[in-house]
Amino acid sequence: MESILWIVLAYFIGAIPSGYIIGRVFYGVNLKKVGSGNIGATNAYRELGVKAGLAVFICDFMKGFIAVHLGMPDPVIVLLCAVFAIIGNDWSVFLHFKSGKGVACGVGAFTYICAPAVLAAFLVWLAVFKWKHIVSLGSILAAPVVPLVMLIEGEPLEYVAFGALAAVIVIGKHKDNIGRLLRGEEKPITREKR
Ligand code: G3P
Repeated sequence: MESILWIVLAYFIGAIPSGYIIGRVFYGVNLKKVGSGNIGATNAYRELGVKAGLAVFICDFMKGFIAVHLGMPDPVIVLLCAVFAIIGNDWSVFLHFKSGKGVACGVGAFTYICAPAVLAAFLVWLAVFKWKHIVSLGSILAAPVVPLVMLIEGEPLEYVAFGALAAVIVIGKHKDNIGRLLRGEEKPITREKR
């Protein structure tokens, strides 16, 4: 019974719309109405600058990291907390279930669970970013690296399965980005002048 409480709490921690709050409170900007319309770190950087992007990334990362900690010491609850934090981040009850894409929150959650897998994913992200300068493409290609490295490392299969589920959620949330990528319309990241 207590476990259900932690999982529900993980959802609500994930659902805190950091980017939306930072944009509205410190910049008077609704990130849902500018740029890509996403409330994540990339759009915060694009529309509000480096400090905002970094602040949103750190807050979203910490949401995942803290939510997962709630599930300790039961590994299955840890994994459920990770996935529910990402679900909260992506379908926030505070934003009519239209919110983020789960990258930074997922990074925070899986850093807690399997840091080497996240490090490998980050290296893939970095390589893609250096090549194309498109954040979404990096996120989409890096997400499956987490379960893949978990599998190679010999992590228990339930860890790999939850890692794969998280990757599917993150990639699915990038469906508009994927459409733009396929049409050649996804732009490299630039800082918008506001
Ligand atoms: O983390 C989200 C990123 O992969 C894409 O963001 O704003 O370009 O849709 P955005």
